[in-house]
Amino acid sequence: MKVDFEINGRAVHVETPPMTRLAHVLRRQLDLEGTKIGCDAGDCGACTVLVDGRQTCACLMPVAHVRGRRVVTVEGLASLPFGKRLQRRFLDIGAAQCGICTPGMLMAAVELLSGNPSPDEAEVEAALGGVLCRCTGYRKIIEAVTDMAVDAAPSAGNASCRPAVGARIARLDGPDKVTGQAQFGADGWPDDCLELRLVRAPHHAATFELGDVEAWRLLHPGVDRILLAGDIPGRNAFGIYPEIKDQPVLADGLVRHRGEPVAAIIGEPQAIRALDLAGFPVIWCETKPVLGLDATLVFDRPAIHAQTPDNVLARGRLATGDVSQSLAAAAVTVRHTVETSFVEHAYIEPEAGYARRIGDRIEIVATTQAPYMDRTEVAAVLGIAPERVRIVPTACGGGFGSKIDVSLQPIIAVAAWLTGRPVGCVYDRPESISSTTKRHPARITATAGADADGRLLAMRFHGDFDTGAYASWGPTVATRVPVHASGPYRIGAAHCTTTALYSNGTPAGAFRGFGVPQAAIVHEALMDELADGLGIDRLDFRLINALRDGDRTASGQLLGSGTGLVACLERLKPRWQAEKAGLRREEGDLRRGIGVACMWYGIGNTALTNPSAMDVGIDSSGRLTLYNGAVDIGQGSATVMVQICADALRLPVEAFCQVAGDTDRTRDAGKTSASRQTFVSGNAARLAGLDLRGRILRLANAGEEASLKLAEGHILVDDGGRKTRIDLTRMKSDATGDVLKGQGFWDPPTEPLDENGQGVPYASYGFAAQMARVAVDTGLGTVTVERMWAAHDVGRAINPTLCEGQIDGGIAQGLGLALMEEYLPGRNENLHDYLIPTIGDIPPIEIFLVEEGDPLGPDGAKGLGEPALAATAPAIFGAIHDAVGVRPDKVPLTPDRLLQRMQRVRRMRSG
Ligand code: FES
Repeated sequence: MKVDFEINGRAVHVETPPMTRLAHVLRRQLDLEGTKIGCDAGDCGACTVLVDGRQTCACLMPVAHVRGRRVVTVEGLASLPFGKRLQRRFLDIGAAQCGICTPGMLMAAVELLSGNPSPDEAEVEAALGGVLCRCTGYRKIIEAVTDMAVDAAPSAGNASCRPAVGARIARLDGPDKVTGQAQFGADGWPDDCLELRLVRAPHHAATFELGDVEAWRLLHPGVDRILLAGDIPGRNAFGIYPEIKDQPVLADGLVRHRGEPVAAIIGEPQAIRALDLAGFPVIWCETKPVLGLDATLVFDRPAIHAQTPDNVLARGRLATGDVSQSLAAAAVTVRHTVETSFVEHAYIEPEAGYARRIGDRIEIVATTQAPYMDRTEVAAVLGIAPERVRIVPTACGGGFGSKIDVSLQPIIAVAAWLTGRPVGCVYDRPESISSTTKRHPARITATAGADADGRLLAMRFHGDFDTGAYASWGPTVATRVPVHASGPYRIGAAHCTTTALYSNGTPAGAFRGFGVPQAAIVHEALMDELADGLGIDRLDFRLINALRDGDRTASGQLLGSGTGLVACLERLKPRWQAEKAGLRREEGDLRRGIGVACMWYGIGNTALTNPSAMDVGIDSSGRLTLYNGAVDIGQGSATVMVQICADALRLPVEAFCQVAGDTDRTRDAGKTSASRQTFVSGNAARLAGLDLRGRILRLANAGEEASLKLAEGHILVDDGGRKTRIDLTRMKSDATGDVLKGQGFWDPPTEPLDENGQGVPYASYGFAAQMARVAVDTGLGTVTVERMWAAHDVGRAINPTLCEGQIDGGIAQGLGLALMEEYLPGRNENLHDYLIPTIGDIPPIEIFLVEEGDPLGPDGAKGLGEPALAATAPAIFGAIHDAVGVRPDKVPLTPDRLLQRMQRVRRMRSG
């Protein structure tokens, strides 16, 4: 069918079946890849475009419906009357993080602003409610759209300001994100790219036999090849730990979770997309699955892996002091048990990328959080040396931990290796959800005691964590949680244990906190209960016990300066007191309450080496390049690293360009996880800058305080009035084109933990305190979070706008964890059944950045990604308890569960 319409002001004519959806026509036929596809089902809104001025989900609209109509995509936004200003607002305010939702957000905002140039917050929420964002927590998006007339802070977008550290510099990768030019995993594939689809298990546990696969292939023209387990050239297994490679690339006769791949079908894109995989020749023999913590904990459960007959993947332990004696001596003891659920990362960009073979090397261009780890795994799967693998990260449309694990990288590498053609793959939303890692469900029981003066004496804690079918980051969760289990408090005695258990659930791995958010729900409930039991204000109780400079943690680690928890609580205290005094507790069926919660988070790997390496070079024209392997997944490392390096060099940010995360061109900066990039890679970037500055000063025989200035082909050095001109054009360049290079390497100092969890697990800790005010509808069981306050010890805010963005986004994910998010394998593998917070769910958030300075951090900075989330759910649960007197025994606390809890408590109280 021929369809004529207008796209971004020009007439176009496409020939395509009439039901082809507009989003696919835009991306595949018109090369307009600024329109993103997040779910292909009208749930996420990433594909929002304007059709005759109205926002429309392009993934739902058949192209026949736009015949004769005007379509505007993000590529045409700048030509609209206020388009550029809206893009600038998004940049200046920090409304784009990973940027995958940004085109859709911008187009939805355009429709609103066209009829209403000064919308209020409610109007923005209504207009943008169809577009999901998993990164920003929506607050900065609302701010960007509510008053287009307001200019941003003076330094916003100013990359020339010095010092750069502390400035609200607009993110350096932002312009591509607000114009639709940023390339994510599904974008920019070679024209001759084949496509790959995976045949996945429909059962949680099964054995299987394959039929005549070749005969099936011959029945499907355009299908070039089908890969099975036996086709993997190297090791048919991958995993995070060197000694645990338990997850097959393609299953071999046995599947351990629903969604596990058993075959890969490769062919021409049209043919692959048209396949009906229901007829693929495989005979399943379903077996009884081990699902849920109840099943994982029964004695005679079947072994998920033969080599682990008890299904115990890992255990963690911390022990200090005499817990029994301390609890016996306590004036008050309290106990709490809670169970949490699988939580889906729900990044808007599903797994995507392509691979191509270049001679005896393989190149993978894909979305990832960990390029060097991807390189190692792909090399082993292909059976080649890591140096023959190149990983080129695309823009990452959200990761939050799941994209540390490889997903499609090994199989597209095998496909490209064996076919000799580029091969691409995009997971659809159900397979993204069913096959990639989740937050660990946990069942935790803990007891704590305090003396009559409110001093925390002891805690006993045990947590069982369902790690699903494969190990992924399960051992990390098991070891990290005991360190954090007693909370950021002085404590004399603690006994904290964990178990990570295999099941037939979806593999659980890293998700913003590695188990610490689940533990925080419990230790903060205990702090509330102890405070209540002693008649001490809940915030004051935390102040009494908060870790301070010079204290020892439960791991026996001596804390140096920069322990900012007390400062966080002090910043919240006036708000706490005002809310307590002025809270309108009852209003019809509504009951209001306030809650406060603290958290701490060890930055980087637990008691393991954790290095980062960075280079910065200058070429003969005077252009600086930061070779930055710290992948920016939306948090802002592409900006922060340059700010830090620029100040070390004492040159402006605008003098830099950047190579981001290409394993052929950057050294290993480690994975983007555990809130480590600012702290660890920031130090590497600082040292690289200092190294290059030192080389320049030595060439000029200048002192430490000399100033530098870049000019075309020269560096001008001014040493107290003595001026030296370094001619770069006469210097020999290296393979990268640089004539001078500075190198930085930093590994945070830690010490191993002994069998009692004693040692120095982390070089730095982030601290935070958050407050929540909620209104509980006692008739419906619904909870509205009306306002949040967040005080975070960031050490030093390298870029306050980016810090605020992390906190807003972490709170949004924490709210989802608390009240709505529960992934049930096989039941809600899409974004209309699996609910994440929308723009209307996130309340106003007041943020306090506490900058006490970490002695080891670059310019004093600590990590923030995980700390942003961990205190939110416990603060909300504290507020709910304050309102209606109940706490969850199962998280999320959905309306039905809350009503049941309230009824149960009512029955107990009435006898
Ligand atoms: Fe919205 Fe990442 S910035 S999903």
